[in-house]
Amino acid sequence: MEKREELYAGKAKSVYYTDDADKLILHYRNDTSAFDGAKIEQLDRKGEINNKFSAFIMEKLEAAGVPTHHEGLLSAEESLVKKLDMFPIECVVRNIATGSITKRLGVEDGISLNPPTFEFFLKNDELHDPMINEYHIRSFGWADDEAIEKMKELTFKVNDVLTKLFDDVGLLLVDYKLEFGRFQGQIYLGDEFTPDGCRLWDVETRKKLDKDRFRQGLGGVVEAYEEVAHRIGVDLT
Ligand code: C5P
Repeated sequence: MEKREELYAGKAKSVYYTDDADKLILHYRNDTSAFDGAKIEQLDRKGEINNKFSAFIMEKLEAAGVPTHHEGLLSAEESLVKKLDMFPIECVVRNIATGSITKRLGVEDGISLNPPTFEFFLKNDELHDPMINEYHIRSFGWADDEAIEKMKELTFKVNDVLTKLFDDVGLLLVDYKLEFGRFQGQIYLGDEFTPDGCRLWDVETRKKLDKDRFRQGLGGVVEAYEEVAHRIGVDLT
């Protein structure tokens, strides 16, 4: 697989064309950002950990019947993926209320949500990723009904698979964000699943083992990601 010119540089990953028009290379960098890019730092080894972490999770999801863009690891910090036509939408499921929902709705931090709740956000840093509803998505043509239903179905299916996977190693999957896209007419899970885009708490101590350590200046960010990776069995060698 030949790496060609850069298509796009995001806040934590760079995306490259390849000699196959249907495939892209994702390069996970050490850059760590929060607050829509207002806080950025380089965290040694994070790119490699997240690359291997996301590959591991995508393979578990694929095995459970969730179509993902993941094709395989190429190097410590790079993966090969299908070139999806991405929806400009973020899908969030919350099993426990924390983060933006507590500020938005004035609800208590840390309460369990039964059933889990679902939110759509528009991917737009300048607007700080505003929350949107299905009517917005349809009216502005960001996705059609079929895609909306599929994104919800797959996001909840991911919840079933990953809640169990993390629960088995003493971790609470608090919430997470997914992004989807279309490839040859089918909807696939794209982007990444890493501690950068989810919240994971130790079930006993409720210690945060995700990007909130960076957002809140708690330290030990990479060590926390590594701990989660080790617990679930990601090979970091
Ligand atoms: O900030 P908020 O509480 O809405 O985040 C919900 C979940 O979505 C968290 O796990 C957070 O890490 C993730 N998220 C993300 N990228 C964003 C917004 C939220 O990964 N732009």
